[in-house]
Amino acid sequence: PWVNFLMNDEFFSMISNTGGGLAYYKDPSVYRLLRYRYYNVPYDRPGRYIYIKDHKSGKYWSGTWAPVMTKGGEYKCRVGMAYQIICCIYNSIKTEITYFIPSDRRLEIWDLKVTNLSKKPRSISTFSYAEFAFWGAIRDDDLDNCPNISRQKFKNGAILHFSYNDLGTRMDDMEFEMYYGFHTSNTKPAGFNGDRDKFIGNYRDERNPLVVEKGKSTNYCKGSGYPIGCLEHKLNLKPGETKRVVYQTGFAWDEKESNKISKKYKSTQAVDRAFAELKKDWRNRFDMFNVKTPDRNFNAEVNSFVQYQAAVNLITFRPVATWRTGGSGTVMGFRNSTQDQLGMMHAFPDKSREMIIRILGAMHNNGAASHSFNPFSKQLGHIGVYDDHNWIALAVTDYLKHTGDMAFLDKKVAYCNNGNKGTVLEHLLKAQDYAWRMRGAHGLMQTGLADWNDSLNPGDKRSESVFTTLLYAASTRVLIELLQFLNKKTLKAKLEKRYREIRKITNKIAWDGRWYKRLFKTDGEILGSKSTKREGTIFLEPQPWSIISGVATDEKAKLALEWAEKKLATPHGHKVMDRPSTVYDKSIGSVGIYLPGIKENGAVFSHASSWMIYAEALLGRGDRAMKYYRRMAFTTKNRISDLYEVEPYASCQFVAAKPFHIPGRGRNSWNTGTSPWLALATMQGIIGCRPDYDGLIMNPSIPEKWAGFDLTRVFRGIKYDIKVINRQRISHGVKEIAVNGKIIKGCKIPFDASDIGKTVRVQVVMGN
Ligand code: GLC
Repeated sequence: PWVNFLMNDEFFSMISNTGGGLAYYKDPSVYRLLRYRYYNVPYDRPGRYIYIKDHKSGKYWSGTWAPVMTKGGEYKCRVGMAYQIICCIYNSIKTEITYFIPSDRRLEIWDLKVTNLSKKPRSISTFSYAEFAFWGAIRDDDLDNCPNISRQKFKNGAILHFSYNDLGTRMDDMEFEMYYGFHTSNTKPAGFNGDRDKFIGNYRDERNPLVVEKGKSTNYCKGSGYPIGCLEHKLNLKPGETKRVVYQTGFAWDEKESNKISKKYKSTQAVDRAFAELKKDWRNRFDMFNVKTPDRNFNAEVNSFVQYQAAVNLITFRPVATWRTGGSGTVMGFRNSTQDQLGMMHAFPDKSREMIIRILGAMHNNGAASHSFNPFSKQLGHIGVYDDHNWIALAVTDYLKHTGDMAFLDKKVAYCNNGNKGTVLEHLLKAQDYAWRMRGAHGLMQTGLADWNDSLNPGDKRSESVFTTLLYAASTRVLIELLQFLNKKTLKAKLEKRYREIRKITNKIAWDGRWYKRLFKTDGEILGSKSTKREGTIFLEPQPWSIISGVATDEKAKLALEWAEKKLATPHGHKVMDRPSTVYDKSIGSVGIYLPGIKENGAVFSHASSWMIYAEALLGRGDRAMKYYRRMAFTTKNRISDLYEVEPYASCQFVAAKPFHIPGRGRNSWNTGTSPWLALATMQGIIGCRPDYDGLIMNPSIPEKWAGFDLTRVFRGIKYDIKVINRQRISHGVKEIAVNGKIIKGCKIPFDASDIGKTVRVQVVMGN
């Protein structure tokens, strides 16, 4: 399945190209409303189906193509920004279903329009289908209890499913709560079906349900069994006539609330208004960064789907995907969610602020971070993955630069271990000091259980990670900038000293002559060096990070990236290491459990690969940055979608590389740190538009052949219309910037609060 996501602030759905997928309120491990059978064959069952039954011919089909999968006819799925439209034409009946979640209710709207395209009157029935889950992801597996606690009724045109969810885990901490799921519509149904097995019938499945085949509802809805919401509507359509049924499927705390929640969207005007608002809201947010370059594909991608995926990851904090069931109670990853803040902060600053507070809430008062956590239940994962705490400064400083909300630094947030509070700035400084304490024998950062690369987990906690060291340096550098802006001289001097020291040690002992090494084990073995006897003479991660952190000298930076290209390039991006493991070897971790060329074992790990684009852009080499971007870009996947398999409109976690037997096959789409980094690499890297504390930097790194480009960027309430002129046809270099006709110094457009609400014209002339 190719999926998309629907969402508001607290209600989320994954929806495939044929309506499949789950829906949940807040936390998919606790409040799962619609079930998705992950291990199912056929794939992508169940879904939000609407069956059409033509009473005269006896034929039936589904308005989402699957599950009936009728041959012939027409099928089209439109993947929108937080909406999905599926259209079918069969037997001269056209259906169009728009799925979305309005901003203010815990429900999905399925807006069905049925048109009679034939010249004769038609009499049809529609049957909707929503399969309810038993709330808790683990509870849903408890088939001993679940069907026996399932209560149901049909009342006022709505099917209600209500049953207990166990919030405890054992006999001695039982705690039951009842939740309500509802499925209703805006017009009175002609019939209803509440029991899945009675609806489907024996030895059948979703493709040929007995009720649809017979064209007659069971009108059975009494509980005990597998609950569904299925409403039948009888529609008599004159030639050319269109009729509309709007369904609401949602989550409530009690019966009364379910009526209240579904009521508003029984009005089609309210539905139309909510849909128009949703589209407008997304459009407005994307309009905050809209670029027009000579490369149409690049524009289309960056102005929509690159931003969209990053936004989806930011808003949903990505606990579910086609390959991630959302069953684990710890729904947020410290490093993952922190990076998710980086890409779309300009368009969702409030969301980002809320997420950063959640993330800070997973920090301990000694500066350590819980690797994963649940902001609702407060459940915490382990600590000891020592890259984690090093990411947070990047997100917070980025937030400050985007918003200018410096007061955020004084906001108090509780530490997760003792409930004591510290300011945001204190959290950052504690993480910094903790990192400094966690150095190993050479003075580099200890790995702990693992670093960014989950599978390099040698269990040798005191081994040293060059990646984490470079990440530490990057995060120290942004803190230095912040302290400079805050005029905190002593603190700044302390961190500058640390930065210099780490830079020196790294270049001295982690430089391998042509690239940076990867990991120093305590037994003396070094990974990622030309002298490494086994897997990985070169690993990707340290090479771009040597530039992002500013640790590499000019010459080393170029060498590192060139060798990364030489040794790791594939048509789909850069592999994460050159020689994959062939067997599991505990002394370097679990990387060898993967097939060679898969996942961290030598695939193109898209997340790390996107760092290469950013690093090349930081070096000012726009042609290379663009070349690497094109290898990863979605539109290039459209042409090879039978090979690539996953969505050609979202990045995936990895693309298999040789020696795997299907190089180019993508896996694990949507939930990937690739998305914020692709957004950064394109918007802040190639286009070169970066916020700073006191202004907006314009310093592009573009392909030489571009004669220039136009950019609209809304920054802290000011709309900048930016025109970049590249007469000399160079990649990098700003000769002159004029703001409203006045030449400024350097390439930072100073922020001027008196321009808020206005449009500022900027002309950037590139030149040496
Ligand atoms: C997965 C993890 C992420 C990790 C990456 C590389 O995507 O979610 O945290 O950094 O793999 O191992």
